[in-house]
Amino acid sequence: MTEEKIYLYPVWIRLWHLLNAILCLILIITGISMQFSNPKFPMIRFDVAVSVHNIVGIILCVNYLLFFLGNITTHNGKYYKLIFPGLFSRLITQFRYYTRGLFKGEAAPYPLNSERKFNPLQQVTYVGSMYVLFPIIMITGWALMYPEVIPARFVWSSGLHLTDLFHITAAFLVSLFMFIHIYFCTIGKTPLSNFLSMIDGYHESH
Ligand code: HEM
Repeated sequence: MTEEKIYLYPVWIRLWHLLNAILCLILIITGISMQFSNPKFPMIRFDVAVSVHNIVGIILCVNYLLFFLGNITTHNGKYYKLIFPGLFSRLITQFRYYTRGLFKGEAAPYPLNSERKFNPLQQVTYVGSMYVLFPIIMITGWALMYPEVIPARFVWSSGLHLTDLFHITAAFLVSLFMFIHIYFCTIGKTPLSNFLSMIDGYHESH
């Protein structure tokens, strides 16, 4: 291995991530099909979309457990610990790099190494998706599968309506994250090198 290659993605992360990406894609497709269901032009037959969405959602929760337990029991969890002092200015520095420095060929302000697997923007968006949005999606998803547990009214609204609103808003944000995430993954040593990292586990520095 050359010195610029660091082993950052252990096998369990790669397996979790591959399954997670496939499951998210199926959930997005079946979710959109249910949201815009039209009996005359069914993208996917409604009852089929519901069953697939429910089963894939349950598998996603089991897979999330792997991610959660893996991050508690291995050193991978340390990369998800946000250090709040100075975080805002680190985010701005990284943002300036992505919007200007990168195009001028400047060096990355937070190069990755075994102590810092994510740059500040990656870290915040990964923590936000995995520890905020995913739990919201999973809890509201289970509640929508067993709607009898949802209170009929919650403050000003129907409990069911509010649960659904949280579910689809968080799901929309994860879908948005996924598009942006894939774009940013092309910013590596070569446009494909970050994708290869998730196959062989080695990150290649610029
Ligand atoms: C087809 C879809 C996807 C592709 C091609 C993809 C690609 C990648 C690549 C290349 C990396 C390694 C580079 C990096 O650290 O940024 C990565 C890491 C990561 N991705 Fe994705 N991704 C996809 C979907 C998702 C989804 C749906 C989520 C969750 C909502 C997600 C969450 C993560 C996280 C948390 C990491 C860091 C994992 C760790 O090392 O602890 N990805 N992804």
